[in-house]
Amino acid sequence: MRENFGSKIGAVLAAAGSAVGLGNIWRFPIETGRNGGAAFILIYIGCIFLIGLPVMLSEFVIGRSSQANTAGAYRKLAPGTQWKWVGRLGVFTGFVIMSYYVVVAGWTIQYAWLALTNQFAGKTAEDFPVIFSQFASNPWQPIVCLVIFVWLTHYVVVKGVTRGIERWSKVLMPMLFILVMGLVIGAVSMPGAKAGISFLLQPDFSKVNGGVVLNAMGQAFYSLSLGMGCLCTYASYFNRQTSLARTALNVCVIDTLIALMAGFIIFPAASAAGYHLQSGDIGASLLFITLPNVFQQAFAHLPLLSYVFSLLFYLLVILAALTSTISLHEVVTSYMTEEFGFRRSRAALVETVTCMLLGCICSLSFGPLQNHKLAGMTIFDLFDWTSSNLLLPIGGMFISIFVGWYLKRELVKGELTNNGTLRVRGLRVLIFILRFVAPLAILGIFLNQLHLF
Ligand code: PFF
Repeated sequence: MRENFGSKIGAVLAAAGSAVGLGNIWRFPIETGRNGGAAFILIYIGCIFLIGLPVMLSEFVIGRSSQANTAGAYRKLAPGTQWKWVGRLGVFTGFVIMSYYVVVAGWTIQYAWLALTNQFAGKTAEDFPVIFSQFASNPWQPIVCLVIFVWLTHYVVVKGVTRGIERWSKVLMPMLFILVMGLVIGAVSMPGAKAGISFLLQPDFSKVNGGVVLNAMGQAFYSLSLGMGCLCTYASYFNRQTSLARTALNVCVIDTLIALMAGFIIFPAASAAGYHLQSGDIGASLLFITLPNVFQQAFAHLPLLSYVFSLLFYLLVILAALTSTISLHEVVTSYMTEEFGFRRSRAALVETVTCMLLGCICSLSFGPLQNHKLAGMTIFDLFDWTSSNLLLPIGGMFISIFVGWYLKRELVKGELTNNGTLRVRGLRVLIFILRFVAPLAILGIFLNQLHLF
């Protein structure tokens, strides 16, 4: 018998856990900083609800109607066709994302450790880049952290859908929410936080151009975990009473709220520490160079607060990343169990060991392998770039085309209304978006990221 999420709240929290991750706390503030603040946020929210929500509903429809892993889903719903490759592509993408994601996730363990043992105390802006580059380029330390992280993920996944994923999502997500709330309150009440708050609230539309819109859409996709069958796999565990529309709406709202709240932690704290938000001070090194310094400077006279704030922050990032790696792991584990008849523990072990090996290679690309490049990118960059710029958008485009054009309208309607027991409005609009708006918009992101625009 296939396992199910036992409760509606469990289903929402598991899917939200997949969505909320490094994408919200690391990538979103960077994109917001780069693309001009509040105006970007408004466009981002538009993308989440106009394109992200419909594509998420498509993944839900595919997953729950097929009751199968993402590759099996297409085999069942479109037997004898080439659609199965979309599912297989998803599994492959899961492998690739997981392998580099755990490198960054591992770094957060090291930073939580540095925070716990008070090693940021007394450091200045000049020290943090050195601390980071020494750590990341060390061949062993990051690998130890990565291995710990993959094992944590393995531990949850191997327990199964109800006792592993659902149970831990119910524990981790509320903890994450409480931490974010506490940190937002701490950050906005810092002296000097006002500039950061207005950066997030006063839109400057003069900076908006086509590129900004496409970046917002790419970020929305990444943040909602769309395009590789993660949410399709989770939806295959939803029970028959779960309302797909309500669940999708909840996940979109939670994911957006957490991203915004991460913004309300990072920008006010950065302005309190004297950073100039408009000048692009908030860069890619945000989480590991800028922020530890921000936490030191913002509470320069209150070392205890600095200590608590840093520790809680890195704990938060670990929790967020963990609920996402669980979902990435589950895509591959369920694929191997259902398609090749592996026992769950064996399938999970294969994925865990493979990810550790690939993860090690990605990790070493900051040290001994940094000069090994393909198309001008290190292995880590190549994995990151290919998955977020190529594989996810391609997957997302095919998913919306599959539900918009291929699946029977009655099947889609039956899933969305739970066979006529729920009232769902806007089905026509949804199908229109899936047929035309989403594929074209995604094609836009895609061409933009390949610099073909
Ligand atoms: N949504 C995750 C985040 O925001 O960090 C990243 C992610 C997880 C992307 C799972 C894609 C995916 F399938």
